[in-house]
Amino acid sequence: MLFIWIAVAILIFLLLLKVTAPYGRHSSAKWGPLISNNIGWLVMELPVLIVLWYFLLQNVKAITAPAWVMIGLFTFHYLYRSLVFPFRLHTKGKKMPLVIVGSAVLFNCINGFSLGYYFIAFANYTNDWFTDFRFIIGIALFFTGMYINLKADNKLIRLRQPNETGYKIPTGWMFDTISCPNLWGELIEWAGFAILCWNLPAFTFFIWTAANLIPRALSHHRWYKSYFESYPEKRKAIIPYIL
Ligand SMILES: NC(=O)c1ccc[n+]([C@@H]2O[C@H](COP(=O)([O-])OP(=O)(O)OC[C@H]3O[C@@H](n4cnc5c(N)ncnc54)[C@H](OP(=O)(O)O)[C@@H]3O)[C@@H](O)[C@H]2O)c1
Repeated sequence: MLFIWIAVAILIFLLLLKVTAPYGRHSSAKWGPLISNNIGWLVMELPVLIVLWYFLLQNVKAITAPAWVMIGLFTFHYLYRSLVFPFRLHTKGKKMPLVIVGSAVLFNCINGFSLGYYFIAFANYTNDWFTDFRFIIGIALFFTGMYINLKADNKLIRLRQPNETGYKIPTGWMFDTISCPNLWGELIEWAGFAILCWNLPAFTFFIWTAANLIPRALSHHRWYKSYFESYPEKRKAIIPYIL
């Protein structure tokens, strides 16, 4: 099932290179009914935790200490993303299409199911995993990515006063090198998660994250260049000095 799901991610990646997902700065009423941006984020991101924890609670005894660490990292990220992040955004009056919310819910439910089912039915991590180099490298990457993602999102949110909705050119720190350090950070975070878990559901989740974030960063980058005449020429989209 997960190999098919990876193939779907590759198709979605190719599609998103041609069709920009219509939320945030790319939001459009052409895509049907709209809902509030903040509520949209909450509804999109919470189901993954509900589905994950539904499966975990079916067989809690099967979960060993390293798996609890993995589940804890994932849960921490998604609690922040669904319950805190949406209410920090300065996007008053902005909306996103329901079709985006629906497709994100589907994507999140499948990922929540595959991770949750893996942890209760297949995972057999022992405490030795805590000293395995994959766990150590993975966890270092996870926190590095999370730090970059949070710092970049904070800087973007602070570009606006609470009632503003317009755009400015972000400058300083990693913004001088790439347009989307927040998406770059998220990509590193889930690469780290895939390495520290070293299982197929986490790897698949990373592929899906890349399939979403790389085209989104390219769309943001194109948008910046067409919206601001003075946009810095040398800045890349998502991977410093490369892409
Ligand atoms: N795991 C995944 O598959 C996945 C997929 C998508 C997003 N995410 C994560 O979700 C978060 C948000 O993603 P996103 O693509 O929506 O980020 P984004 O477009 O960079 O927007 C983040 C916030 O900052 C505002 N903003 C961005 N650039 C701005 C500028 N130049 N001037 C003023 N305000 C600006 C946005 O306002 P507007 O909304 O009004 O543009 C939004 O409120 C990120 O942390 C990302 O990593 C994860």
